[in-house]
Amino acid sequence: VKQRQLGKDGPWLTEIGLGAWAIGGPWQWGWGPQDDRDSIATIQKALDLGVNWIDTAPVYGLGHSEEIVAQAIAGKRQQVFIATKCGLVWDDRGRVRNNNRPESIRRECEASLKRLNTDYIDLYQIHWPDPDTPVEDSWGEMVRLKEEGKVRYIGVSNFGVDLLEKCEAIHHVNSLQPPYSLVHRLRYPEVEQEILPWCQRHGVGVVVYSPLQNGLLTGKFTRERLQQLPPDDWRRKSEFFQEPLFSQILEFVEALKPIAEKYGKTLTELAIAWVLQNPAVTAAIVGARRPEQVKEQVGASGWTLDADDLEAIESLSRQIFSRG
Ligand SMILES: NC(=O)c1ccc[n+]([C@@H]2O[C@H](COP(=O)([O-])OP(=O)(O)OC[C@H]3O[C@@H](n4cnc5c(N)ncnc54)[C@H](OP(=O)(O)O)[C@@H]3O)[C@@H](O)[C@H]2O)c1
Repeated sequence: VKQRQLGKDGPWLTEIGLGAWAIGGPWQWGWGPQDDRDSIATIQKALDLGVNWIDTAPVYGLGHSEEIVAQAIAGKRQQVFIATKCGLVWDDRGRVRNNNRPESIRRECEASLKRLNTDYIDLYQIHWPDPDTPVEDSWGEMVRLKEEGKVRYIGVSNFGVDLLEKCEAIHHVNSLQPPYSLVHRLRYPEVEQEILPWCQRHGVGVVVYSPLQNGLLTGKFTRERLQQLPPDDWRRKSEFFQEPLFSQILEFVEALKPIAEKYGKTLTELAIAWVLQNPAVTAAIVGARRPEQVKEQVGASGWTLDADDLEAIESLSRQIFSRG
């Protein structure tokens, strides 16, 4: 898997990072049942295939994802770049809320270090904005954690340009983690049109999340699959899994098939390669729950779509998503 530098002075990351959200197992925003043995085998498969980093968060499975990551990489800490987050905390009934206050960030950092069984986090990211805490206060604490060596690089996720500017004025933002996929961009054009260009201009690395739109762009997701999703799979609540958008996405994916086939690639590979082709993007964080899934994903690295095909994809999206 090819590597790229995270922003103007960051570390070298493989263009595909393993996303460990679903691996957290059941919670309010879980993906239904998940077998820990599959999760560990998936992480180890990714590392064997050359993926050099993992994105997790305390909130994924309320601590469980971080613990599984630690188990899977035991004895290999130096070889793996670990990205985790702060800012979503839960109470003893498992109810999640935002908290980006400095003292909470520090407490979370210590808890993640324990769960991850490490004495440093490679990339520490603020998960979501917190309207109740001045961003300068939160970012100031991130800078202190970096100065103390508890974290090596600091970034943010789900931030717009206004918040990014406030952070950058205090200390360079090593990375932004925004949502970005072939279909997300059609609903939320500001990521592609404003936020990614801003990051490129400021040397901020970009690690995009959900490039497969949570599995919808793999070509393997069907109406039947949606009906069979376990009741506690959060995707039942996602706007992308509701009509009419859901059917439009299935139609779009079907129309992309001949383009992928031209390159001898699958739809999964095409969807990931497409986000990687944006010049602002450093890497794609792709979720996987079973080893075969990562095996397919890594085929997205190291090739590009021709300009004609990018144009064909653009016009297909205009045709399909402008209706209804
Ligand atoms: N910062 C944030 O707010 C934020 C938000 C979302 C995600 N993220 C990060 O980004 C990562 C990736 O996003 P994501 O997990 O939401 O979505 P994704 O990468 O778009 O999709 C991952 C899902 O697609 C399915 N899949 C993956 N590879 C496949 C393959 N080869 N064939 C068939 N199905 C396949 C799997 O689900 P099934 O097998 O169940 O279909 C998998 O869980 C997360 O794990 C997390 O680390 C961050």
